[in-house]
Amino acid sequence: MTPEQVLAELTALATDDVPTHGGATMAYVYDSGLAEVDALAAAAQAAYQWTNALDPTAFPSVARIEGDLVGAALGLLGGGPGAVGTVTSGGTESCLLAVLAARTRWRAAHPGDERRPQLLLPVTAHAAFRKAAHLFDLAVVDVGVDPETCRVRPDDVAQLLSTRTALVVVSAPSYPHGVLDPVAEVAAVAAAAGAPCHVDACIGGWLLPHLDGDTGTAPFDLSVPGVTSLSVDLHKYGYAPKGVSLLLTGDPEFRLGHWFATAGWPGYPVVNPTLAGTRPAGPMAAAWAVHRWLGVEGYRRLARRAREATTALVAGLGGVPGVRVVGDPATTLVALAGTDGLDVLHLADEMTARGWLLQPQPPFTQPDGTTLPATLHLTVTAATADRVPALLTDLADAARAALELPPPVPDPGLVAAAQGLDPAALTVAEVDGLLAFAGLDGGPLPERMAPVHALVAALPRELAERLLAGVLDRVHRPH
Ligand SMILES: Cc1ncc(COP(=O)(O)O)c(C=O)c1O
Repeated sequence: MTPEQVLAELTALATDDVPTHGGATMAYVYDSGLAEVDALAAAAQAAYQWTNALDPTAFPSVARIEGDLVGAALGLLGGGPGAVGTVTSGGTESCLLAVLAARTRWRAAHPGDERRPQLLLPVTAHAAFRKAAHLFDLAVVDVGVDPETCRVRPDDVAQLLSTRTALVVVSAPSYPHGVLDPVAEVAAVAAAAGAPCHVDACIGGWLLPHLDGDTGTAPFDLSVPGVTSLSVDLHKYGYAPKGVSLLLTGDPEFRLGHWFATAGWPGYPVVNPTLAGTRPAGPMAAAWAVHRWLGVEGYRRLARRAREATTALVAGLGGVPGVRVVGDPATTLVALAGTDGLDVLHLADEMTARGWLLQPQPPFTQPDGTTLPATLHLTVTAATADRVPALLTDLADAARAALELPPPVPDPGLVAAAQGLDPAALTVAEVDGLLAFAGLDGGPLPERMAPVHALVAALPRELAERLLAGVLDRVHRPH
C-alpha cells in the first residue's frame, strides 16, 4: 500500500464518528471555527511528535513550553508570587494530581492515623474526583446541591468538614449544569477548618477570564482566599488539540505532593510530576502555538462569540416546547430538562437523527433524597455561533416529535431479574449474557439510545456501573 492509501483507509474508519468540527457535536470537542488554529496546531504538533516530555533536561524546549503555558495560566487565573503549575494530559489527570497532593499533605499532617482521608465532593463535581478517590484510596463524602440552582451550599460543606477532610472541591463551572459553585464562601469555610480547597475550572477556566466579567460571575481563581489549587484545560476553551491541561497552585510544597522521584533501581532516576512516564510533547507544543497566535485578544473574541451564542440559544429556547433550562448557565454550558411530559432521552435521539450530539445526563438522587432531573448537556463553542438558529429550529422540531413518544421504559423482567444480582460477583461472561438479554450483544449500538439510558437509570447504581463497564468492554474487544 502507499501511504496515501493507508491514510485514505484511516479517514474511512472515521465515517461513523461524530464530526469534530462545525459546532453540531455539543460535547467532547471544542471547535474555534478558525482554520488557522487547526493548521497551526497540526504543524506544531507534528514538529514535536517525536519529542519526549519525560526529560526536560534532554529537551529543554519542553521545559520552556511548559513554563510559558503555566506562566500564562497563572497570569490569567490569579497566581501570585511563588505560584507554580504542572502541565498534564487532561482534566482528569489534573484532578487526580490535586487529590494525590492533598492526600500527601493530609498524611503528613496526621502521622500514624490509619483512617482513610476524606474528599468532600459536591455531587456535581466531575467524576474524575471519584476516580481519584478510587485510585488513591480516599473516602468520598457526597455533598448534595441546591436542587434549584444546582450549586453547593457552603453551610452543607461546613457541616461535613472534619479533621479527616483532605480536600474540598468546587467547580467553576460544573460540567452537568454549567453553574458556578460559591467558590469564595466554600474556600472560606474550608480554610477555617484547615482544609485545602480545589477549584475545578477545567472547562471554564480559560473562558471566564476572557469574558472580562461580562457574565457577572464572582471571582473563582487562585486569588480567592482559601483556594489552594485550580485545574484548567487547554484542550477545552484553550482550543488546543486533545492532551493538555494545567494544575496550578499557589503553594510549591503542595505541588511536591504529586511528584514522584526514585533512584531505587539501576536505570535512570525517574522523576515525574505526572502519572505517565514518557509524555507526548506534541499537545503541549500545539497549545503553546495556538496560545501564542490567538493571544488574549483572540481568546476574548472566541469567548465572546461562544457566550453570545449561548445567550441567544437560551433566549430562543422559549420557543421550544417541553424544555426548560436548569440553573443559571453562567458560561457556555447549558443543561436542558424536560417539561410537559417530554423525556429528554427521546429528545437526544431525535436530535441525533437531525445531525446533532446533545449529551444525555441521567436523573440523580442526592444523599438527602432530593432529585436532580435528567438533562441534556450542551457545550457551546465559537463554532456553534452561526448555527444557533438552525439548532433552535431542529430543537423545536425534535421536541415536538419527542412529546409524541411514550416514556422510554426498560424491560420490567430484566429490571426485576437484575435487582438480585451482586455486581461485584458478576463474571465477564455473565455480564455478556445480561447485555445480550438487554439487546446489547456486541453489534452496533441501537439507533435509539433512550431505552438503554432508561434501563441504566432503573438499575441499582453499582449494577448499572458494572453493566456500563461491560458495554465498553465489548466495544474495546479486538475485531
Ligand atoms: C469541570 C470538569 N472537570 C474535569 C473534566 C475532565 O476532563 P478530561 O475529560 O479532559 O479528562 C471535565 C471534562 O469535561 C470537566 O468539565
